Amino acid sequence: MVIETNITKMLGIKHPILSAPMGPFYTTKLTVAVSEAGGLGVLSHVTLHGTVSLNEMKKSMEYVVEHTDKPFGFNIRTARLQPDAIKLCRQLPRFIMENQRIREQCVYLITSAGSPKLILNKHFEKLKETGSRIKHFHVAPSIRLAKKLVDSGVDGIIATGVEGGGHQSYDNISTLVLLQEIRKKLPEVPVIASGGYATGEGLASALSMGAGAIAMGSRFISSKECEFHDNYKQIVVNSSTSDTELKTGIFGPARVWKNKLAETHGLVESKEEKQAGEFSMSKVERELGELEMTYQGNVQDGTVYLGQSIGLIDRVETVKEIIDTIVFDAEKSLTNAFNTIKPTYIEQALEVEHF
Ligand SMILES: Cc1cc2nc3c(=O)[nH]c(=O)nc-3n(C[C@H](O)[C@H](O)[C@H](O)COP(=O)(O)O)c2cc1C
Repeated sequence: MVIETNITKMLGIKHPILSAPMGPFYTTKLTVAVSEAGGLGVLSHVTLHGTVSLNEMKKSMEYVVEHTDKPFGFNIRTARLQPDAIKLCRQLPRFIMENQRIREQCVYLITSAGSPKLILNKHFEKLKETGSRIKHFHVAPSIRLAKKLVDSGVDGIIATGVEGGGHQSYDNISTLVLLQEIRKKLPEVPVIASGGYATGEGLASALSMGAGAIAMGSRFISSKECEFHDNYKQIVVNSSTSDTELKTGIFGPARVWKNKLAETHGLVESKEEKQAGEFSMSKVERELGELEMTYQGNVQDGTVYLGQSIGLIDRVETVKEIIDTIVFDAEKSLTNAFNTIKPTYIEQALEVEHF
């Protein structure tokens, strides 16, 4: 069963499903599994373990092409508070260019949390000129930003609503409304929908509204291949849709699972408030430490990024099982919807003929 869209054709993948980046955690094995299963696996921008993320990203890319010959992508968080962003944007295009297999397989870069312009440099241009098929997408949580992204020349946007796990914007717009608005006001731009997707019905609705694919984070955490701690996976399969909330994260608001740590955090309301707030490297270090704790399995004292879609997920499965089920259910859902409305169309057509 194959659902072909503008995005599957653009990225050369079988199914319209991507794994969302989930830094600072590793998603290297997850990337291989998603790409092998016919979706597009995406490497996260990792900053854990005190190592330089440039080397980690290079190693992850090498690992991916050793374990699959399918396309894959990667994320760079271009936020102001991301000290290695400029280095990654300058050096990774050159690294990709110099490694033939990586150049052939690396088809997608998603920038997020900051400006897309950081990557629109001469190195990235050169990479594109020297035969790479790489497409550059950026996360858009509002139509305002989506319009700016299109003006700056991105190849596509990820419409990401407030129900998703991890960092959010201050706009608080659901994926349902955001996707419709983007499709209405920017009908030509290729769109991937993200935030709240975990089922075939979700994929069917995104495709019906004109998205070319979905990107899922929380759903893939609960896959066998994902390198997250088993305690993290158990939260995903045992929680309800109301078990997450927005709290202040490193870059701004972030959707987290409600645990002991979340009770002690407030919620920043605006960019101005965040910028005016106390900033120190020791605070950032502490927040990274809270993420590290989660990665090691301490899900009460650490930060647990998760989206509302966890209420729709009740088991840990292989990535292939997840993708195959979602594609099967999406097709069933679209066919059912068509069959429900078809008789009305036929009746109307006959009525028109009578007159
Ligand atoms: C654990 C976790 C870490 C995340 N880290 C990043 C990140 O580093 N960069 C990014 O662009 N988005 C990040 N996100 C957001 C996801 O890419 C995606 O937007 C979100 O998971 C989609 O919502 P879903 O969880 O309902 O699928 C993260 C999400 C989670 C759950």
